[in-house]
Amino acid sequence: MQWESWTSGWSLVVTILIILVTYDQVMYQWRKGSLAGPIFKIPFMGPFIQALYPKFEEYEAQWASGALSCLSIFHKFIVLVSERDITHKVFKSSAYVKPCLVPVAETIIGSAAWVFLGGKSHVEYRKGLNGLFTRKSLQCYLPIQEKVWSEYFDKFVVASRENGGRPMPFMGHFREINCALSCHTFVGTYISDEAVKKIADDYYCITAALELVNIPLLMYVPYTKVWLGKRAANGVLAEFANCAAASKRNMAAGHEPTCIIDRWILSMMESKAYNDKVASGTEDAEKPAILLREFSDFEIAQTMFTFLFASQDASSSATTWLFQIMAQRPDVLDRVRQENLDARYGDKDRPMTLEMLESMTYTNAVVKELLRHRPPVIFVPYTVVKNFPITPTYTVPKGAMVIPSCYPALHDPEVYPQPEVFDPERWISGDAAEKSKNWLVFGAGPHACIADQYVQLTMVAMIGKAALELDWAHHATSRSEEIKVFATLFPMDLCPMVFTKRTQET
Ligand code: HEM
Repeated sequence: MQWESWTSGWSLVVTILIILVTYDQVMYQWRKGSLAGPIFKIPFMGPFIQALYPKFEEYEAQWASGALSCLSIFHKFIVLVSERDITHKVFKSSAYVKPCLVPVAETIIGSAAWVFLGGKSHVEYRKGLNGLFTRKSLQCYLPIQEKVWSEYFDKFVVASRENGGRPMPFMGHFREINCALSCHTFVGTYISDEAVKKIADDYYCITAALELVNIPLLMYVPYTKVWLGKRAANGVLAEFANCAAASKRNMAAGHEPTCIIDRWILSMMESKAYNDKVASGTEDAEKPAILLREFSDFEIAQTMFTFLFASQDASSSATTWLFQIMAQRPDVLDRVRQENLDARYGDKDRPMTLEMLESMTYTNAVVKELLRHRPPVIFVPYTVVKNFPITPTYTVPKGAMVIPSCYPALHDPEVYPQPEVFDPERWISGDAAEKSKNWLVFGAGPHACIADQYVQLTMVAMIGKAALELDWAHHATSRSEEIKVFATLFPMDLCPMVFTKRTQET
């Protein structure tokens, strides 16, 4: 009797399992429809292990498999888009999709953060931030940024010297300089150097948590990547909230703005002054270009965190490749050096200005080509909020993830001949600048990168200053051109380099 109930128990379990596996498989086939993708799904988990250890070649193979292709990981159905025009369509279809970066991002940043807003509320919020990235604003951040570069270039030289002049991986240093640059641009000197260092170290945990698909509720399990990432994020938010409070005091005392929060808080104060005047019946009150409400310290901190989140990995990736490629291409580096010296009228210590940076055609072309050649962001995951007829023959189901890809358009040989060759000239004598539809480095549509100009100008500024002050050698290994996917793209050998101070005059 006992034996019988034991076997019937087991047959029930097996039956349920078979039903679940069949359901999972049928749902996959039904959603897949005509799309390219595996014929059968690995039961339940799909290619979860592959997603944990993403390989660039696997993404390339997936893009090559079709304009639209699919996979399914656990309950998540994912559609990858490789074709340029459909990619644009996804970026611009805010009625059907909303950014999810990666699903765990809402857990880490907080689901109330402005980047997750859609439609009108997103547009309104973003309008209040656009002013922080105008040309005039960028000029205001340059003095602080120059200080950061000087300090960190010295650190590069010291690190190489302390390592006995032997090559060492510099990717970590490039992440640190970008973290310092972002933190000081966003919150100026309200943040201490120690706090910046801690954020740079902790930020690694945040990036590590950013897997395309995570197991739900993992953030409640101590010492998992997501739990560590969330703790690190809370620390950064607390630090930025203190900076916001300090900036409010400083701006109220009439000091000049030197960083992003200063400018944002100043705009809030101007809006409030205007509203107060109107309320008191003043008729000639001058209306600010954008009327802002007052944001709490926490809201300001959360917004600065979205900036850090959006910038840290992408900027570090671009910096790493830029230094690597410049070391491999002395012809390019020499021209950048000369152009930067000329723009400073021969005085390499002359402070930078916006006009100076914008005037350097060749250095700007180098940065553009770097971003095309090694685009840090290869795709941008979105969540489908309403059944999305993405082509006349296929509708992405609500709840799925749809991932428009930036990389294939930037490496299309019909648009950029010999796309694997790093060739800044294509932006000067070639026609690359006219191919704006393929320029997907910063996405497109309502969520396109708010900082595209900022990024290009700061990279021009950084590489120009480095060219004048530093010499560096890249010690290529067999893995230097292999691509590691760690949220963004990095060289697999983490960029072994030696930095020395440049003494001779160019
Ligand atoms: C090399 C550096 C960078 C690259 C390649 C890059 C690229 C991108 C891409 C592809 C997107 C998604 C666009 C879309 O969904 O259509 C994005 C969004 C965004 N980026 Fe950047 N980014 C970089 C640096 C930065 C920096 C330095 C900041 C801030 C200072 C920043 C702030 C943002 C923000 C706030 C968004 C979301 C905008 C929104 O949802 O409205 N990014 N970026």
